[in-house]
Amino acid sequence: MATLTDGGFVHRFVPGANADSRALLLLHGTGGDENDLLPLGQMIAPGAALLSPRGKVLENGMPRFFRRLAEGVFDHEDVVRRAHELADFVAAATRAHGLARPVAVGFSNGANIAAAMLLLRPEVLDGAVLIRAMVPLPDPPAADLSGRRVLILSGAMDPIVPEDDAAELAAQLSTAGAAVEHEVLPAGHGLTQADVTLARRWFAAAP
Ligand code: MLT
Repeated sequence: MATLTDGGFVHRFVPGANADSRALLLLHGTGGDENDLLPLGQMIAPGAALLSPRGKVLENGMPRFFRRLAEGVFDHEDVVRRAHELADFVAAATRAHGLARPVAVGFSNGANIAAAMLLLRPEVLDGAVLIRAMVPLPDPPAADLSGRRVLILSGAMDPIVPEDDAAELAAQLSTAGAAVEHEVLPAGHGLTQADVTLARRWFAAAP
């Protein structure tokens, strides 16, 4: 398993186990990198192929997937540009590796870019697990997400993501036709064991 730089994103790719055609796109949080979520991906979908890029935007040296102006205040033009850039990378990587359309598993900033990709480039993802996500675009274009499953995992004590904001994201995705499940856990912004358990269960229940 090597760190690769082709396709414009530094990334890790872990091939799936034989006969497992599922693939996950792993998207880290602010300050993370392409290695962070590999163990989470293996726990959520053992045997699935894993594609894990590093965000290209640096905020005080910390990788992110798009620019923000302050905590919770996003540069929406950059969100759109970066979501398309990442979607192009994902489409090219899935073709190159002969993968199925992946399910995104994003944490925090990674969940936000995954939500933006779902709304802007619905053809690229099969669904998503969005952990501590918020609305990435206030007024997204109409998208057709019918047939896509989305699990949003929020924290009731999250100091970064207001409860209403995650609920609004759930509404945006449902309006676009996605089958959305939204769970609010007794948690803060950090990842918990309950996130792993619920994501694993959701993934295993895929039709
Ligand atoms: C963001 O995208 O900025 C997140 O929601 C918060 C963070 O990454 O710290």
